[in-house]
Amino acid sequence: MHMSQRALKINPSPTLALDAKAKALRQEGVDVVNFGVGEPDFDTPEHIKEAAIRALREGRTKYTPVAGIPELRRAIVEKLHRDNALDYAEGQIVVSAGAKHSLYNAFQVLVDPGDEVVIPAPYWVTYPEQVRLAGGIPVFVPTRAEDGFRLDPAAVAERIGPRTRVILLNSPSNPTGAVYPRSDLAAIGELALRHDLYLISDEIYEHLVYDGAEHVSVAALDPQLRERTVVINGMSKAYAMTGWRVGYAAAAAPLAKAMTDLQSQSTSNVTSIAQWAAVAALAGTQEPLRRMQEAFARRRELILAELAELPRVRVSRPGGAFYAFPDLGDYLGRRFEGREVAEVDMLAEVLLTAVGVAAVPGSGFGAPGYLRFSYALGEEAIREGMRRVREVLARME
Ligand SMILES: Cc1ncc(COP(=O)(O)O)c(C=O)c1O
Repeated sequence: MHMSQRALKINPSPTLALDAKAKALRQEGVDVVNFGVGEPDFDTPEHIKEAAIRALREGRTKYTPVAGIPELRRAIVEKLHRDNALDYAEGQIVVSAGAKHSLYNAFQVLVDPGDEVVIPAPYWVTYPEQVRLAGGIPVFVPTRAEDGFRLDPAAVAERIGPRTRVILLNSPSNPTGAVYPRSDLAAIGELALRHDLYLISDEIYEHLVYDGAEHVSVAALDPQLRERTVVINGMSKAYAMTGWRVGYAAAAAPLAKAMTDLQSQSTSNVTSIAQWAAVAALAGTQEPLRRMQEAFARRRELILAELAELPRVRVSRPGGAFYAFPDLGDYLGRRFEGREVAEVDMLAEVLLTAVGVAAVPGSGFGAPGYLRFSYALGEEAIREGMRRVREVLARME
């Protein structure tokens, strides 16, 4: 069958694939502890659901402006002002089907074939794929567990060349949990200004920071930087709304217009009633978010303590998001039930099939010795899952 080169080159999302496998096993009756998913286990708060139901009853079921209903764009403008010290006009906001879609739009309007995009590694699996879909070339900047996966501005500078167009920032980071300090962001911002580059700043985990870490939007550091930054955010993580598919980009007006034009020829507007739900999420009470933050902080302590107990497993203390990212490289090359576990993908497979634990292999994130454990699940499940991991590791020889 003939398919485009573009289609043939796409790597499907390994996190979604693992989640599908874990869910299929569960359907077969297997007791699975799923550390694989990147979504809060909480239900969408009631007042948000009510807003969608109300919108439905009021007949708000028609096409909306491509970039989103004015009420939602206004709520986003107010949120960016309130939480991030960022001032935008409504015309600079583009609402899309999740932050993933916002990122796609951003790469499509900023990257030409052959352009390079600097990406900190380990990285969220989607970034390099979306860069390639735009014809661009991902250029990775390694970060190290020993430094808490800090993104060193000097290392970023080394990767900037004549074809560099964009630096991608993701703080707090998936999968490492790294939170970039203001001073590093300022140094990276300076690089962008000096080399005439754009920044795409994915801030979807902004509300999940711990140990006194502060989330800073690079766009807020300097008005010139705001002009060169596409800020990406969304409802999925902060409001437990992964299935609703509402994300957004904030950018200089010409970029926002280009993203809107692109979207007008692909998906058009986000589901009308989901947009009304998003208005309620942003403009309504933030109490459910606070409760979720407290639960994540407790779970984080628990999983880090459990991981610290595992022999020969190294784990750094992530400052944000809801992932622990331990290095299990010492177990690779050992045997489990007579079979060599050469790669972390095989270790993930063993965990899933032998004890029903789903964790995402780091290979897809550019970190081949690591496993990503989402702690967006209950404390009892975390304890039980870690007990099973310990059992498998103890049986490896
Ligand atoms: C770093 C990061 N950015 C963006 C997203 C996309 O979120 P959504 O498309 O659900 O808004 C995710 C989801 O896992 C993520 O981890």
